[in-house]
Amino acid sequence: MIKKMTISSIQKAKNVKPLVMITAYDALFASLFEESADMILVGDSLNMSFAGKEDTLSSTLEQMIYHTNAVCMGAKNSFVICDMPFGTYTSNKEALKNATKVFQETSADCVKIEGGKSKADIVKHLTANGIAVCGHIGLLPQSVRGEGGYKVKGKTEDEAKSLIKDAKAIEKAGAFCIVIEGVKADVATAVSNAVNVPVIGIGAGNGVDGQVLVFSDMLGLFEEFTPKFVKKYMDGASLVRNAVKSYCDEVVSREFPQEIHTY
Ligand code: KIV
Repeated sequence: MIKKMTISSIQKAKNVKPLVMITAYDALFASLFEESADMILVGDSLNMSFAGKEDTLSSTLEQMIYHTNAVCMGAKNSFVICDMPFGTYTSNKEALKNATKVFQETSADCVKIEGGKSKADIVKHLTANGIAVCGHIGLLPQSVRGEGGYKVKGKTEDEAKSLIKDAKAIEKAGAFCIVIEGVKADVATAVSNAVNVPVIGIGAGNGVDGQVLVFSDMLGLFEEFTPKFVKKYMDGASLVRNAVKSYCDEVVSREFPQEIHTY
């Protein structure tokens, strides 16, 4: 039986063992990941890899709730994080209304929101109302249109200082864990050293408290583009293509189905 992580066990892991987070969007993959990963993130990246959209911005709360429910069904012993989509946490009131809906309609253990200092009030409001929050700082995919592209952060002294302030502000506001994305490795390490909560990196080097990857990237299933920080642990796209091609060929040649597949 897999022992489910809790907010307290996640926090205690800092400086003890690196934490592993992976995304999942459905019950099938979530059930495969639950035995190894510490946390499953239902990321709004699903809007790109599964809904085929150009970025995450058109992801909806209903879509996130649907996928979070599927993940919770498939991985009942996993700590599940639901990404709050763009535009659903623009004020304390909106954020609480929408995060409450996530908690009421799914078994998610926490929500994730993008932003540092500017979102500290919202993090405080959610945590004060019983909703655990994972922060997300650095490169913020939901800001891609506002910033005119995906920009690696921490390249200047000012950016480095600002990232540390972001992390400290959301930690003080109650975030129990922080995802840091697309940040120079030395700066991400400094951020991790500046706070007491675990800092989970994606494209942020090996000096943080854990890693997160989008599963369709690391399984080599998503072929549109591969960011530098992704390691492909298998060539999923070729495996799937070859398997489906073999199936098609065997149907046409009448090699499939055989006696063993027949009633
Ligand atoms: O949506 C997502 O998958 C994420 C990860 C990139 C951290 O937020």
